[in-house]
Amino acid sequence: MGAAIARSLRTAGHDVVVWNRSPKDLGEIGLADAPLTADPAGAVRDADAVIVCVRDHHASRELLERLAPGLTAGVPVVNVSTGTPEDAVASADAAAALGIAYVTGAIMVPTALVGTEHHLVLCAGGQDAVAAARPVLAGLGGVTDVLGEDHAVPPALDLAMLDVFFAGMYAFLHSAALVRAHGIEPSAYLPYATGILETLGAELPNLAQAFELRKYDRGQASLEMCLRGLEHVVAATEAAGVAPALPRLVRDVTRAQMERAKPGVDWESVAEGLTDPAR
Ligand SMILES: NC(=O)c1ccc[n+]([C@@H]2O[C@H](COP(=O)([O-])OP(=O)(O)OC[C@H]3O[C@@H](n4cnc5c(N)ncnc54)[C@H](OP(=O)(O)O)[C@@H]3O)[C@@H](O)[C@H]2O)c1
Repeated sequence: MGAAIARSLRTAGHDVVVWNRSPKDLGEIGLADAPLTADPAGAVRDADAVIVCVRDHHASRELLERLAPGLTAGVPVVNVSTGTPEDAVASADAAAALGIAYVTGAIMVPTALVGTEHHLVLCAGGQDAVAAARPVLAGLGGVTDVLGEDHAVPPALDLAMLDVFFAGMYAFLHSAALVRAHGIEPSAYLPYATGILETLGAELPNLAQAFELRKYDRGQASLEMCLRGLEHVVAATEAAGVAPALPRLVRDVTRAQMERAKPGVDWESVAEGLTDPAR
């Protein structure tokens, strides 16, 4: 990702100096003739902006300490290394202690989309630091979403999207295994899967509203009715010899919610169990 960022910035007309912990063949990563320095403080000495992109926040905090002596006051450092909201806040605190104008970023696209109109980076930080970082973020193409000053927000959204993406991919693969057990190849199932995902997408605004208002009374799908369907999914999964953990989990949270909710309440009231410490 660091190489993709550097290539994009060069294409956008920035002079880029690169640093990586271990030596790299810059030609191989499309950065032939880019200046490469051996020391982070040297890499940032004349910079008007710095992007940090390493494996995690443990690595990036160590790096912030090493590059800080080379920074000119007010030069923004944008850290796009992935981590938890807690990691991001700890790194922002460490940067503040070092006197760094610091921005937390989260890149929401794979490397191939960096530098294209499809690029998306979420960021947060003090207004001056974010304003100073705007030109370098613009060099990554696409959209920069500024989300205020709370450094926890970009990683919270980043991980929320990973959460729904991986759970969704696993749910698709699980359902494909179920139909395959009955002689239906995943590619033949695809049009139906795509259709139900469109229905799911259209349902999200209703789920979001119900969750926000804690009102579960649309009357479209009661817990009781959904539980009957989910019991069938579990039974069919077990009969097919497919790993049952996922449908059992969804059935069990539905059962648990039925025990505490009034009869006739909508299925999405299972949201109440997500933040209930007794769940
Ligand atoms: N790849 C993507 O599509 C993507 C998308 C969004 C976000 N990201 C995020 O971008 C960051 C980098 O991802 P990547 O795909 O480039 O991962 P990667 O290919 O595994 O590269 C990891 C980078 O971190 C460096 N590093 C690891 N530990 C370090 C340490 N202790 N001190 C200094 N440098 C250290 C590595 O240096 P060495 O070469 O010396 O090992 C390497 O440059 C991650 O936080 C990732 O989650 C990646």
